[in-house]
Formats: sequence, structure tokens, C-alpha cells
Amino acid sequence: MGELHKPLMLTGLQPSGPLMIGNYIGALKDWAGLQATHASFLMIADLHAITFPQDPDVLRRRSFEFVALFAACGIDIGKSAIFMQSHVPAHTQLLWVLNCVTPMGDLQRMTQFKDKAGRRAMDVHVGLFDYPVLMAADILLYGADLVPVGDDQRQHMEFTRRMARKFNSAYGEVFKIPATYTPRTGARLMGLQDPAVKMSKSDPNPDNYVALLDPPEVIRRKIRAAVTDSGSEVRGDASKPGISNLLALYAAVSGERTESIEARYVGKGYAEFKNDLAERIIDFLDPIQKRYRSIEADRVLLNEILRQGADQARERSETTLARVYEAIGLVTGRQDDRRFYRPRGSTRRQSPDFPAPATARALHKRRNVMGTEETKDLSTTAAAETDADAECISDCCVCCCCDTEEECRMEE
Ligand code: TYM
Repeated sequence: MGELHKPLMLTGLQPSGPLMIGNYIGALKDWAGLQATHASFLMIADLHAITFPQDPDVLRRRSFEFVALFAACGIDIGKSAIFMQSHVPAHTQLLWVLNCVTPMGDLQRMTQFKDKAGRRAMDVHVGLFDYPVLMAADILLYGADLVPVGDDQRQHMEFTRRMARKFNSAYGEVFKIPATYTPRTGARLMGLQDPAVKMSKSDPNPDNYVALLDPPEVIRRKIRAAVTDSGSEVRGDASKPGISNLLALYAAVSGERTESIEARYVGKGYAEFKNDLAERIIDFLDPIQKRYRSIEADRVLLNEILRQGADQARERSETTLARVYEAIGLVTGRQDDRRFYRPRGSTRRQSPDFPAPATARALHKRRNVMGTEETKDLSTTAAAETDADAECISDCCVCCCCDTEEECRMEE
């Protein structure tokens, strides 16, 4: 990618159903444009998808389908990292940390949780309840400046910002506060059969959405059957949710303003409008479908895209995770992390934030003296060890307090 001096955008789509036109217009459409000005991380949120039961074979097939569709929709793999959420362990690692500072009440209030759980809140899986925390982890790990999403994700974005501020005020400035980007038209397309509910790829009724890979005859049928309102006037109006939704769809695929579309159909009626809309969608999806077909079978290429994407994502996310762990006081366990052992007040490189606990130093020194891994009676050590800290008693590897053998010998 090599674009990390640019502002960073991150977003994700769950492979919980076939990619549909609402996902394209609410999210994907803008990614291709934003990647010119932003370092881009585009994630297939497979761990979010399993918050609802998925058929394993379908989930696997669909994950590859998403990679191919991203590329077909104009995502340039030279500019953007495309990766699977499950390939980057830092997401679930940060999820756990954030879980430990998230009040249950915040999650209970989430509209999407309430919609999905319905009246069976106590029966739904913990994963669904925890969904927004994983999403916050996804975003905060990358220090995203911008997160392009549809309208339905606004509340999750607010939650993410709130979590970031809360964490920062408790532990220092670790997280960047991300901004939300929503498209001007089509940020919330509604179901074709039920304009009162959001168009969704996981809808059990496929007639409620147009999938990006639907063939022309299916698109014509779905649009013809789309619910409209009483009357015959093609006009956007709160009292006409069906036709308003189709107008938003028309505007999004044609790039025209709603007013000029309305003007064209004055006196013409729904049937003609719907026929034209279907053809507009078919024309719009045709190049995407052609590009998709040219790469879908190339598993080597698709795996390579994911491998490269995951490498970039891991590098970026692990840096943030290390800062988080450090901020909350988890020791790194790295061989080269000496801060833990530095005696307080030592003149050599030290971190005043990480004073050395006596027992840890004692364990290390005793190992050096005994030449053994045995820990031996460490419980009685506190006073004695403080004395032993005064001089280094290694014989002489490079000991816990020194960086070089010379330094270490000087202590002897
Ligand atoms: P998902 O897969 O449900 O939706 C993916 C994107 O499509 C948008 N969208 C819509 N836009 C307009 N009209 C619709 N009917 C419509 N339906 C969906 C969504 O707003 C979203 O932008 N939670 C995310 C996935 C995710 C994520 C993240 C996103 C996981 N981690 C981190 C951003 C950053 C979701 O809703 O996926």
C-alpha cells in the first residue's frame, strides 16, 4: 500500500448474505473514490457474520465472493488492504480489553441489538450483544480517521467514539477519534417488499433486495414486484414510502437528483418508472458483474489478496494493541523489554512508568546465581532482594539490568 502518510479509512462488510445494492450504495461505492485520498483498510467482517448462525460452506464461499466483488467494484489492491477480520487476532484481543470497560447498559440500548434480538433478548448469543464492541475494536485498532458506513451504523459509530474517549481519559491518548462518512443519497435503502424495514442482505426473502450478482431477468422481476403506494404519481413523499425508496435507488444508480427524476415522470405512472429503474440498475451492475466473472474462479489470486491485506492489517493493528496493553499495565513478555526490571532510580535507560517489582527481579537474579530455572523460596525475599539490586551479580551473561557484556562486567 505504501500510503500510510495519508489519512486512514477503515470499513467492513459482513458476509452474512449476498452483497446487495444497499451495501454498494451505502458503503462500497464510495470506497473506490476514497482510496485515492486515504490509506484504506477494507475488512470482510466474518467474525461479525457468525453472530448469527451461518452454514460453514456458504460462509467460506461467500467470503471469497466478497473479495472478488470488492475488486470488481473498483477497489485497487495496490492502494487498499482487503482482509478477513478473522486473519487478524488483534481484533478479538482488543475486543476483550474493551469488554472490560463497556457497561452492559450501553449495549442493551443499541437499536440494532433490540431489533435483532426482538423480545428474546435473554436467548440471543453473547456475540450478538457484543457486536458493537467488536466493531469499535475494528476501527480503533487502525487509528481510522474516516469510517464510511450507511445510516444504520451511525449508532455503532457513536458508541465507538464514546468508547475511545472514555478509554483515553482513563489511560492516556491511545485511540484516535474516528469520523463517520455517509453517502448523500442511498444511505438507507429500504426493502423492496417492505419499505418500512431496511434492505438487508441477510433478509430471508431475497425479493426484498437486489443482489449485486442478480441476473437481469431477476432484477426486472424484483423491481416489477416492488411494493408501491396508492396513487400513480412518481413523487418522493413521507406518505409514499415505497415510491420514495425506489426514487432513492434510481438517484443512487443514475447519479441524478431526485427532483429531475420526478420531473421526467410527471403524468407517466409507476409501471414505466419501474421498467426504466430496472434497466438503470442492470446497466449499473453490468460492468461489475463482468469484472467479477473474470476473477471469481482465481482462488490463488483471491488468497494472495487476502494474504497481503492481512499482513498490512496485522502490522498496523499490533502496534495499537501493544500501546493498549502497555497503557493498561499488561507486561509485554518480550525478551527485549527491560523496563520491567529497571530498578527505580537507576541512571541507565529506564522508564519511570514501569518500576521494577522486587519479586520479578529476585526471580531473575536467583536464576542467574543458581544457574538453574528453579525458582526457590521467593516468598521470603523482599528485603534481601532490595539489597541485591544494588549490584549486579550475573556471572556473566548479559544480565537483566545490562544491555552489553561490558556493562554487565562493570557491575561485578
Ligand atoms: P453490513 O454488512 O451489515 O453492512 C455493510 C455496509 O452496508 C451498509 N448498508 C446499507 N446502506 C444503505 N442502505 C441499506 N439498506 C444498507 N444496509 C447495509 C451498512 O451501513 C454498512 O456500511 N457492522 C457493519 C460491519 C462492520 C464494520 C466494522 C463497518 C464490522 N466492523 C468496522 C465499519 C467499520 C455492518 O453493518 O455490516
